[in-house]
Amino acid sequence: MAARLRTHPRLHQLKRSSPTLQSARWLQPYPISATTQFRSISTPPSPTTSKQLQATPPAKQAAGLGTLPLTWPHKGWEHNAASEVVPGHRAPRNLSDKLAWWVVRSCRWGMDWVTGMGPASKITHGKKVTIEKPMTEAQWMVRFIFLESIAGVPGIVAGTLRHLHSIRRFKPDQGWIKTLLEESYNERMHLLTFLEMYQPGKFMRLMVLASQGIFYNALFFAYLISPRFVHRFVGYLEEEAVHTYTRCIQEIDRGLLPKWADKNFKIPEVAVTYWNMPEGRRTMRDLVLYVRADEASHRGVNHTLGNLDQLSDPNPFIDAHLPVSHMALAAKKPEGMERDEVLARKDGFSQASQ
Ligand SMILES: [Fe+2]
Ligand SMILES: [Fe+2]
Repeated sequence: MAARLRTHPRLHQLKRSSPTLQSARWLQPYPISATTQFRSISTPPSPTTSKQLQATPPAKQAAGLGTLPLTWPHKGWEHNAASEVVPGHRAPRNLSDKLAWWVVRSCRWGMDWVTGMGPASKITHGKKVTIEKPMTEAQWMVRFIFLESIAGVPGIVAGTLRHLHSIRRFKPDQGWIKTLLEESYNERMHLLTFLEMYQPGKFMRLMVLASQGIFYNALFFAYLISPRFVHRFVGYLEEEAVHTYTRCIQEIDRGLLPKWADKNFKIPEVAVTYWNMPEGRRTMRDLVLYVRADEASHRGVNHTLGNLDQLSDPNPFIDAHLPVSHMALAAKKPEGMERDEVLARKDGFSQASQ
């Protein structure tokens, strides 16, 4: 399989056109999947997964993952709610917003270039999709893993700093910390899920290490200076994530990713457990739908937090105060909740505070 993919015409075309990719060993192997690590014993292996198992040794870190308790169990997604997520955009309203949007668009351009996603393939708001340069499953995996390694950083930085801020001010935090830490955990579960299907090479590990060093420290100082800017920045980042996963779903539907469109393709058991995915809805398409719904909720949460007073306003996304999970609520708010809307609900948050 690896040999076949190394000769994949699109990969060759891509590598010829990009000096960076000519030496990118992380694009050469295509070790989809250590998923058999988690496969139910009662489920006979499909031809697809048997080949994958032969091609790829199980991921080392997978050994205990299926047995560890979940720190923040996911409340799952109603199928309709996950399917109804659409790309959205909150237009920048001030200089800070414009700067955040510009930084995100610049990062997106760089990421598209490195992972071979042509600019002509961009999804333009909502329904229109043009796909002139489909990516392979391996290229999608490289993109997912790199992006998720980045996406897990902002929540933990913001949560940590708000925790320290609360301590040194001798004041409560208005309930923001848990939501932020939970967001980081959710992103890390995305990453761990994808790592069950693809093992990065040394070059990619180096890229993640370097990116994490830069991104963590940049966010740390940015959050100290302007937490509102960082939440807006993350809101825009999540808009792009929704675009990306939407495009992946479209490509699966169009038959451009045949391995993932195969109904016998086994997704990792850790994903089934984490999202509590129902029987009959455990395809790769379902998994991408769930991940996209998570990104949509991060988008709504961060745009909302970016609209609030960072010191005094309550976090409106506390599950105990909501009839539905906060993620389901936020996923329906592509532009976030305005401050007036949040404060109008303030009575419901009266003791939201740790
Ligand atoms: Fe994610
Ligand atoms: Fe996200």
